[in-house]
Amino acid sequence: MKWTIKERTTKKMSEFKAVGEVMITEEQIRARAKEIGAQITEEFKGEDIIVVGILKGALPWMADIIKCIDNENLIMDFMMVSSYGSGTKSSGQVRIVKDLDFVIDGKNVVIIEDIVDSGITLNYLKGYLAQRNAKAVRICTLLDKPTGRKVDLEADYVGFEVPDAFIVGYGLDFDQRYRQLPYISFLKQD
Ligand code: PRP
Repeated sequence: MKWTIKERTTKKMSEFKAVGEVMITEEQIRARAKEIGAQITEEFKGEDIIVVGILKGALPWMADIIKCIDNENLIMDFMMVSSYGSGTKSSGQVRIVKDLDFVIDGKNVVIIEDIVDSGITLNYLKGYLAQRNAKAVRICTLLDKPTGRKVDLEADYVGFEVPDAFIVGYGLDFDQRYRQLPYISFLKQD
């Protein structure tokens, strides 16, 4: 599904000065979570699922997705990773800051992310979880920015494809701020 610019439908937040036009509304995100949650439910019918949220950006999207997965054996876990490198771009070296609490041997893992950009983080995590003998590893991302890709990585479940722009909200930050916005917005450049 491609991104579309929508008018702000609800005014739940002040007009933060660095936050620009709304790109994706909360309503659109919730609707997409329902669709993707139903697909994940179907794929893992009768099986276990470990949903692994990648802190911190995945939090709001994960909260939506888990409520839409109809599976009695779903459990949640979290990882936190950081990329070495200068500036805003990944260097290719990923470091685990917080590892899984659960053993995933023989289990189905669904990684939840806010965005796939270069693909470096997810490529690393996919390999790491496969090495730990997960039965299946799927990637479910709210946003996919294919123009940023540096490695060959495709997410299995994508909420919205986004263009090469600096965006914030719904978990995505600028200098750790704006994660709490209940929509995806452009960041003002000035
Ligand atoms: C973001 C995002 C992914 C990664 C994607 O995390 O949540 O983990 O970058 O980028 P890539 O595809 O280029 O590897 P970030 O390091 O900003 O941490 P955060 O979730 O705490 O914001």
